[in-house]
This record gives sequence, C-alpha cells and structure tokens, in this order.
Amino acid sequence: MTVEHDVRDLGLATGGRYRIEWAERDMPVLRQIRERFAKERPLEGVRMAACLHVTTETANLMRTLQAGGADVVLTASNPLSTQDDVAAALVVHYEIPVFAIKGEDNATYYDHIRRALDHRPQITMDDGADLVSELHKNRTELLDGVIGGTEETTTGVIRLRAMAADGALKFPVIAVNDSMTKHLFDNRYGTGQSTIDGIIRATNVLLAGRTVVVAGYGWCSRGIAMRAHGMGANVIVTEVDPLKALEAVMDGYRVMPMIEAAPIGDIFVTSTGDINVIDVHHFEVMKDGAIVANSGHFNVEINIPGLRQLAVDEPRRIRPFVEQYRLADGRVINLLADGRLVNLAAAEGHPASVMDMSFANQALGSEYMLIEGKNLENKVYTIPQSIDQEIARLKLESMGIRIDTLTPEQVRYLNQWQEGT
Ligand code: ADE
Repeated sequence: MTVEHDVRDLGLATGGRYRIEWAERDMPVLRQIRERFAKERPLEGVRMAACLHVTTETANLMRTLQAGGADVVLTASNPLSTQDDVAAALVVHYEIPVFAIKGEDNATYYDHIRRALDHRPQITMDDGADLVSELHKNRTELLDGVIGGTEETTTGVIRLRAMAADGALKFPVIAVNDSMTKHLFDNRYGTGQSTIDGIIRATNVLLAGRTVVVAGYGWCSRGIAMRAHGMGANVIVTEVDPLKALEAVMDGYRVMPMIEAAPIGDIFVTSTGDINVIDVHHFEVMKDGAIVANSGHFNVEINIPGLRQLAVDEPRRIRPFVEQYRLADGRVINLLADGRLVNLAAAEGHPASVMDMSFANQALGSEYMLIEGKNLENKVYTIPQSIDQEIARLKLESMGIRIDTLTPEQVRYLNQWQEGT
C-alpha cells in the first residue's frame, strides 16, 4: 500500500531515486550518521514532521531519520523549491509520506503543512519556521505532545527568537543555523554557488564585466558577492549595518545605498531577510533589461506588488523563471522566479557536499532534542559545540584531510598566564 502523499506524479519516482543516490555519494557525514542510526535506532517510534525544501539532499536526511526509527512525514518549506521526482521517489521507494508539489499555490502550501501536522509530531523540523508558526497559531491542541524542534535557516531562527522573546514559543528549538558547520559553509559556499547557478540557468547571462548588486553582507550575501566577483562581475554591496558594510569595503567591494546602485546595476540579488529592499523608487531608476532576483528565504525582499503596479501591462514569461515587466517609458525589468529563492526555484539548491554538514546538524540535533528536550526551556538553543566540532572532524576525515593536534607542551602553554615576552 502506498503511504499518504500529495505529489505531482508518482511516475517520476525512478529518476528521483537515481538523483537521491547521486547526492548521497557527496554526503559522507550524513551516511555515517545513518549507519549508526540504523544500528542504535535512537529515534525509534518518534513521530516527526519536517517542513524542508524537498530536494535530493533532504531525501537523504529523511532516509537517515527513518533509519534511526523515526516515523517521519515531509512537507515543502517553499511553494517553488520542490523537486517533483524526489517527492515521488520518497513515497514510492522509501515509503515516506510527502506533501509537496512544485508551483503549488499558497492555499495548497498551507494545506500541506496542515496535513503534516495531522501526523501529531513529537519533533518538528523547520526551514523558515512555517510549521512551528502554524502549530502555535492554529493547532494549539498539538502543542502538549511536542518535545521540541529544530530550525534550519537564519530567517526561521529570527522568527523563533521573536516568539521566545514574546513568551509565545511553547517548546525548545535547536537553531541548526547557529552551528559553525552550518552557516559558515551552507550559507556562504552553498548560497554563493547555487544563487549564481540559479541566475545562470534562468537567464544564461555572462557575468563577466556585468555589475552585480548584492543586497546585504551576511553569510549568504558574502558567498554571492564572492562568487559573482570570481566570475568576473563588478560587485556592489548595499548594507544597513556599518560593521558589515566596512567588511564589504575591506573585502574589496564598492558599497553604496541601493538608490545609488539601482541605476548602475545589471543584476540585483537580495539576501537580507527584510522586506522591500528593492522598492518602487529603485525600479524607477534601473536600466532597461535589469535582472532582479532574491535568494533570501521569503519572497518579500523585492516589492513585487509595487513592480506590478508600475508595469503598464501583464508581465510576460519570456523564459522559464523569467518574467518581464514593461514600464511606461518602455524599459523592461526582468524578475526571476517570482522573487522566490532563485537558487532553489531555478536551480537545485545547495550542492550535496555542503548540505551534508547542515543535515548532519539536523539529524544530530533531533537526537539531542529527544534526549535533552525535557530539560530545556521554551527557548532557542545552539547545538553543543562538541557536536559541531565532531561534524567538522568527520567532514575533514571524509575529504582525506589530516590536521595537527596540540602537543602536551602547547596545551600547557595555552593554559598558563605567567609566560610573556
Ligand atoms: N536549502 C538550500 N539548498 C538546499 C538543498 N539542496 N536541500 C535542502 N534545503 C536547501
């Protein structure tokens, strides 16, 4: 009997399975965890609901949780990021219930979240906090049964910290994003590469010689700026935080307000976590043919309703994931992927080898939550440093890279204070 699901087409399952196996080869840390989980079964019988981007990498995380004994269901964390073949493969080949269809409307997106919550999760796993938010807003009868949750991304962690500060959070959550082995790698190298990948797949533009404007200089934006520069683009960074702006300057980028960057840029990418970072007054001064994309979690960073109002007719879908808005003076603005995460909508998200560490944190974070959840307050926690370090150690080992260890003399030196010049 087929497990519960709402996916595009179960006939896509074989191709999805091949791609899941392809990704698995680049996820050695997660594979080791899966092997241990299969022996020790630390999540035996635990009901879990995961609200994550439905990708080949996520599929390998689901397999890991399942190997640990969890009874897990998966729903999409974004209406445009689902890989339909992967969703089908999880249902057909791995017997994991999935509710996710690429391009689903908002009503279906929330209906899918509700179906995942019908599973009465004891542990929640989020990317953006939509599952936790829906649970706290509309399914409060389930709260007592929840031990705790994990959260993948910067935006979700910010939302959860706001809930905790308001006293609204009703169970503890592990902020996977706070692990060094997550944000230093996934946010920087993952978002850096996959965002450029999404822009290129959607448009096939040459980056060399173009002016790329990157909004924000957090870990994700740093990666985007670094990779755009590496492809020969002239990079401009916009920021509101003086420290980050200063770092961008000293990393060699031009820094200026968006209103000054708007008439100069050829390609714009937002990754700030805030709303209307590119607004109507910016569109008004952009070049004809400007390309505008977002890599932040929600589709609020570009003022799309404002762009729609500015346009003189219906946007034209000129290529998959590219919509052209024509303005009164004849200029055209190209919006990618409806302002949703361009790296997941127009490309495949971060490569497996970086998701390996993020999802090792998710797997070990849920094991930790199961053991420690009862002793934690209803707050947002960081994974213990020892787990973070162990993930880094395993990743290096899988890459065949050895490092030095402190000699006893060096340990003694670091622990004393008498010796100076
Ligand atoms: N977030 C960014 N890239 C991802 C991927 N490949 N899988 C799941 N979540 C992601």
